[in-house]
Amino acid sequence: MQQNAITERRNNIAPIPFEADAPFLKIVGELPRELNGTLYRNGPNPQFDSPGSHWFVGDGMLHAFHLDNGRASYRNRWIRTPKWLAEHDAGRALFGGFGRKLADAPANLTDGGVANTNIIFHAGKLLALEEAHLPTEIEPGSLATLGYHNYQGRVAGSFTAHPKIDPLTGELVFFGYNAAGPLTPALSYGSIDASGRTTRFERFEAPYASMVHDFIVTANHVLFPILPITGSMERAMSGRPPYAWEPDKGAYVGVMKRSGTAKDIVWFRAEACYVFHVMNAWEDGDSIVADVMQFEEAPLFPHPDGRPTDPEKSRARHCRWTFDLSGNTDRFQQTYLDDLTGEFPRIDDRRAGLKSRHGWYACANPKLPMFGALSGIVHVDGNGRRLGHYLLPAGDTISEPVFVERSKDAVEGDGWLLAVVWRARENRSDLAVFNATDIEAGPAALVQLGHRVPDGFHGNWVGAA
Ligand SMILES: [Fe+2]
Repeated sequence: MQQNAITERRNNIAPIPFEADAPFLKIVGELPRELNGTLYRNGPNPQFDSPGSHWFVGDGMLHAFHLDNGRASYRNRWIRTPKWLAEHDAGRALFGGFGRKLADAPANLTDGGVANTNIIFHAGKLLALEEAHLPTEIEPGSLATLGYHNYQGRVAGSFTAHPKIDPLTGELVFFGYNAAGPLTPALSYGSIDASGRTTRFERFEAPYASMVHDFIVTANHVLFPILPITGSMERAMSGRPPYAWEPDKGAYVGVMKRSGTAKDIVWFRAEACYVFHVMNAWEDGDSIVADVMQFEEAPLFPHPDGRPTDPEKSRARHCRWTFDLSGNTDRFQQTYLDDLTGEFPRIDDRRAGLKSRHGWYACANPKLPMFGALSGIVHVDGNGRRLGHYLLPAGDTISEPVFVERSKDAVEGDGWLLAVVWRARENRSDLAVFNATDIEAGPAALVQLGHRVPDGFHGNWVGAA
């Protein structure tokens, strides 16, 4: 009976239909008493079923695990975007596919933003991010939606879900794609200082229109990957996939000095590949090294004619990109560091843009397809060599692991790793707390929920003030 239930369910993608507050959660093991703050996680949780909708565009739901002196509580809330509110009033879906309105939706409804991808804290604001819209400000305690944040009108258009915060200055660096409108090759680039003031915002042209999920920032450079999940208005208008895998377009990465302008961008080339996420990057003499999770072929998006890509090639592996800035070549090198399928790489963020010696990512069981099957964690050194590897019981899945340092001045990597785990047999979730340098020992503590947290995208820790 129970076996059947597991076979039928198989994954943890479906939304949950409620919001809850759980003030006293059961804890197995011992939560470190120094771990005081909140882990916020974001992910798609569609309020209503919608025809032809992609997993990526489900309404954002926040899950907050608040840890305080060895105790734990939980709260989840939908992000009340204009789309969520309009659909809530209508009692049904008004959007389908990538921000496309359904035929019978009200004419004055134009904003399909879902705020479902990441949740960050910068310059005193908690911001839910989704790459096609501005950040949505969230009240940190109640998780109430406060609305779009446009930095006093200085920032407009799309804003990546993966901005980078400079650990030395507190500056936030961001970009947006489709910056001249849907499915255009324009990118924006900007920066916000540690006090929340916009210090830069400009636009430039990329080699072609593509889905640009993440970018690369080092102490002195910023790199824009243009990889061939291409965007096409012509396809979209003729009912074909707006985003599709077109490897013939090749891979481009634009390298710009942070002190320079978009006019100075130098474009490097390589074999076609796709990357959703960057682990970290740094400068090494005349080179830039960037560790990414690279797919040979894009997952989740078809060829232009609708055929799926090859599942054997649609898996990500830890890969090192090397850019020679000395002017000898416009090619960049791609070297796989491991054969394990993985995603959602993280580091000790105090080393963002600087040479790092620790990284972690969620890894898959090699026998299962990529997404919905991340079922372990890998701990690697600064060259991708495995320092530890932990696999969940078969069937269970795990979220992106988030690093929390033991204290402000703890050495790199000294702290905990927080990940949400789906227990397939019980169909509910745990927050697992690992010792970050000894993940093989398994979780030091489990915070148990009575319900499940659907597989989501990204989260971050906000320490108690
Ligand atoms: Fe992401």
